[in-house]
Amino acid sequence: MSKDVARKTLIVANWKMHFNTHQASILMHKLAEKTPVHRDVITVLCPNIMTLQSLSLQVNHRQFKLGAQNCYWRDEGAYTGEVSATMLRGLVDYVIVGHSERRHVFGELDKEIRHKVQAVLRNGLKPILCIGETASERAEKETHHVIHDQVVNGLLNVTSEEISELTIAYEPVWAIGTGQTVMPHDLADAVKTIRQQVIALYGKEAGVALKVLYGGSVTSDNSQAFLNVPGVDGLLVGGSSLKADEFASIVKKAHNSRKKKG
Ligand code: PGA
Repeated sequence: MSKDVARKTLIVANWKMHFNTHQASILMHKLAEKTPVHRDVITVLCPNIMTLQSLSLQVNHRQFKLGAQNCYWRDEGAYTGEVSATMLRGLVDYVIVGHSERRHVFGELDKEIRHKVQAVLRNGLKPILCIGETASERAEKETHHVIHDQVVNGLLNVTSEEISELTIAYEPVWAIGTGQTVMPHDLADAVKTIRQQVIALYGKEAGVALKVLYGGSVTSDNSQAFLNVPGVDGLLVGGSSLKADEFASIVKKAHNSRKKKG
């Protein structure tokens, strides 16, 4: 990854299972009108797989990158209903892997998530590996253990050449779609744990360069507070990314906070 890309703030929209092709196209159109292009912010839209192809023809690539919300880890074969990272090549730059809904609704295990990270990298795309503790793990004060284990398991077999292509999104499960958000000092702690783990595995340079995002009930009102937390390089936005004004405002604020940080 070039130093220039490494310095940019990454704002990722996860549209989840919303919008048919027509609706997705309308939202993209509105976003294109409202979201200015900032050299210091990379904005990634992750629509559902159905709408990716048509949006890839509509998107202004200078304004938005595209991402997928998931993929299968084999490149091809008799895997009914699945879409491989190989198929996503040329359509997207990023692939979200191990989102908590994949882990907890669809029962994805660390082993599959690790295979998916490798498949995404093998196909020249950038994985956004999601990690985070559940409410009960948090209550049991296991947050650091969970982060440690999910980072170690997710990155197993990722080489030191590949690590610079990877982003980690810290998304506490209890904060996703609930309106509850993490306290800044807990977020700073979690981000520190993630970086320390990556430093332990890949060395200081890789740990410092790693992009770490926060996700979980991000809105245009609270986005700035998360971006101000040391070590947070961007946001993964669910619900608020479905509204053009709200999401465009998050992107604008990300740009402004970069200006302040200098
Ligand atoms: P949310 O979702 O912003 O609606 O909480 C975040 C996510 O699931 O990535």
